[in-house]
Amino acid sequence: MSGMCLVSAGKALPNSKITNDDMSKIVETSDEWISTRTGIFTRYFCKQEQQSWQLAVDAAKQAIEKAGISTEEIGICITATMSPPFATPSISCIVQKELHLLQDILAFDLNAACSGFVYALETANALLAANQKPYALVIGCEALSKITDFTNRNTCVLFGDGAAAVVVQRSEYPFVSMHGTKGDVTALVCGGYGAEKQCLEMDGKAVFRFAVETIPRCIESVLTKSALSLDDIDYIVCHQANRRIIDYVVRQMKAPIEKFYMNLQNYGNTSAASIPLALADMQQQGLLHPKAKIICVGFGGGLTWGATLIEWNKKE
Ligand code: ACO
Repeated sequence: MSGMCLVSAGKALPNSKITNDDMSKIVETSDEWISTRTGIFTRYFCKQEQQSWQLAVDAAKQAIEKAGISTEEIGICITATMSPPFATPSISCIVQKELHLLQDILAFDLNAACSGFVYALETANALLAANQKPYALVIGCEALSKITDFTNRNTCVLFGDGAAAVVVQRSEYPFVSMHGTKGDVTALVCGGYGAEKQCLEMDGKAVFRFAVETIPRCIESVLTKSALSLDDIDYIVCHQANRRIIDYVVRQMKAPIEKFYMNLQNYGNTSAASIPLALADMQQQGLLHPKAKIICVGFGGGLTWGATLIEWNKKE
């Protein structure tokens, strides 16, 4: 068995829900500007005392419960994040401790910005092939509010915090992927520990151009690799950055908009957490029937990209 399928998804959001009107009290902006330019209406921020790792733990617990598996069947835990609470321990190590996962598992975090979750899926697939356990936990977790400049209206209205997790299973179902990076160090940057500028800075127009060129290329690549057409795909889940990016791609590809799941209106751009947050909402809304074929497309800082074709299946 060399493939992998999605078994379940869980999510957790901070308590503090922020509307566009709330944002207009922080910077000079308006609900009208934000909603028409981005499609975003609300987002959630971790308050001072709220730790993002707790969201990862809660989301992972929910995903494990929904999968109906024992924690002893999990051999790998990977968290995709670009806003970790600590340089060490990793969020994955905290999840291991809090959920009493086995100690002899691979537990680590990975940073590929907004492509992180797709990179983590591909990593889990490669590692599961050589693991004695059948399941992996793949988490996306971000506290972007901690690295947002709340005096910069160009960026602060876009981002949100949250975490979501999926349980994936080694299986016979095909898992097709592609990935890459342009090695770009200017379009989207954020200093790390000790850096002078610790907030996200973005060339919005450059990112927009990159995104609308990258998403169709990613989708077409996994379709070609899997010898499928768009008609065979149930849902495309793009990184939820901005509604205008997805609308542009839909027009460009002459694709049915219903195939492109969107929930960015509720959460804003949650970077590595956005795709699993979509999967969790799709499961909750009953959209994912057994063998549903899903293409996940990530794109983001780096400039990185990645896409996977993966099937939804309940535990075998
Ligand atoms: N409220 C009100 N006015 C604003 C705001 C705001 N929040 N932000 C910018 N403006 C103003 C600008 O100051 C500018 O005013 P000016 O003409 O007087 O100078 C005007 O609006 C237009 O600004 P632009 O930057 O040209 O706005 P644009 O139409 O390009 O939209 C946006 C900006 C939404 C960021 C767009 O570039 C975009 O969608 N980019 C994609 C990038 C993205 O989504 N990044 C997410 C993170 S990256 C990732 O996830 C991969």
